[in-house]
Amino acid sequence: MTIVYHEEDGDLEHLADKKIAVIGYGNLGRPAALNLRDSGINVLIGARAVDTSVHAASDGFRVISVAEAAQQAQIIMLLIPDEVMPQVYLEQVAPYLSRGDTLIFGNAYNITFGFIEPPPFVDVGLIAPRTLGDAVRARHEAGRGFYSFVAVGQDASGGAWKTVLALARGVGSLRAGAIEIAFEQEAHLDLFIQQAVLPAFHHMVITAARLLMSKGYPPEAVLTELYIGGEFTDYLSRAAQDGLLHALQLGSMTSQYGTFSRLDRFGDLKLERLMEVTLEEITTGAFAREWAKEYSDGYPRLDKLRKSQSDMEVWELEQQTLDMLMPFREEGGYDNNSQFAPNRDDETAFDFDNDDDDSRFAPPKRGDDH
Ligand SMILES: NC(=O)c1ccc[n+]([C@@H]2O[C@H](COP(=O)([O-])OP(=O)(O)OC[C@H]3O[C@@H](n4cnc5c(N)ncnc54)[C@H](OP(=O)(O)O)[C@@H]3O)[C@@H](O)[C@H]2O)c1
Repeated sequence: MTIVYHEEDGDLEHLADKKIAVIGYGNLGRPAALNLRDSGINVLIGARAVDTSVHAASDGFRVISVAEAAQQAQIIMLLIPDEVMPQVYLEQVAPYLSRGDTLIFGNAYNITFGFIEPPPFVDVGLIAPRTLGDAVRARHEAGRGFYSFVAVGQDASGGAWKTVLALARGVGSLRAGAIEIAFEQEAHLDLFIQQAVLPAFHHMVITAARLLMSKGYPPEAVLTELYIGGEFTDYLSRAAQDGLLHALQLGSMTSQYGTFSRLDRFGDLKLERLMEVTLEEITTGAFAREWAKEYSDGYPRLDKLRKSQSDMEVWELEQQTLDMLMPFREEGGYDNNSQFAPNRDDETAFDFDNDDDDSRFAPPKRGDDH
């Protein structure tokens, strides 16, 4: 029977005499640190770059190097990119671990695929939000919480679950619910959504957009109908709240008949077989090995793939549509009503137009040559 933890299962007092280091101040590190501090927990930040340190310090945190943070803290939350984590762990965290320390991961990837092997004398826990870092912060501020998967991979002290649940409460997840899961299941599920569901969705949207535009429907109307209008998002939000079938049944009778009567037609897509193959690559570790090599080679294939994606004409049309529908996007690029709307006082929150941004993972800049 799956266990779901709620607010009363996490005791913040358990963290009262502990120093907690958040390593990394990025997509998840910053929201996690801010939420923990809101919950009255003493957090320090382990950071590498000067500008990141300045950012964290300007948010009011004590910032030290990654190695110093690992040395000083009893609970170390590793919130840096999964592919760089093994080396950072090996060089700057592992040498400073003491008996009774706890390592917390935001994703089970490195433990599952054996890239990080903690010593037997530390606790190892997982708090993996089922949403984006921005939403982790926004939902906490709205008093709503967010779902996460939680796990204990190693309980050297006998108190690992207490630590994981106290942190899950502090970071704001227990207000919604934290689902207990095995480390490897979290890693597999996470990768499966990225590799089997998102590509299928992406493919479906692009295929529909191309077909409709080739038949003369205006791009703005097509893209608004497909996802920009938000109907699909509303549908998924409703599904998350009330169930997928219930959300479908909120449509008109015409819509319901059209959907249900054509459903089987798409059963011919052999999706299940494609998903099985993808899951196998994940569970055997084949994908993890492929990605480790890609990272150590300097991302040559990812660069090519990203280039060929961003070269597609549809994105130009998409950006034009967004500009037309949301002229206020100029201010920050986000819908002000969205939970992802940046704090206008916080210039670094969504700095996609920053020319100094060397992140190869930043979304394509507006006005780029697509
Ligand atoms: N993104 C999400 O919404 C999300 C959701 C659920 C779980 N997670 C998990 O949370 C973890 C963190 O993901 P993320 O998306 O937050 O990562 P991220 O934003 O890409 O991490 C950026 C941070 O990591 C630091 N960093 C990068 N390389 C480093 C290095 N070699 N040494 C020291 N610090 C380094 C960066 O420092 P600099 O500023 O110095 O570059 C920056 O502070 C991952 O395990 C991920 O799977 C993320």
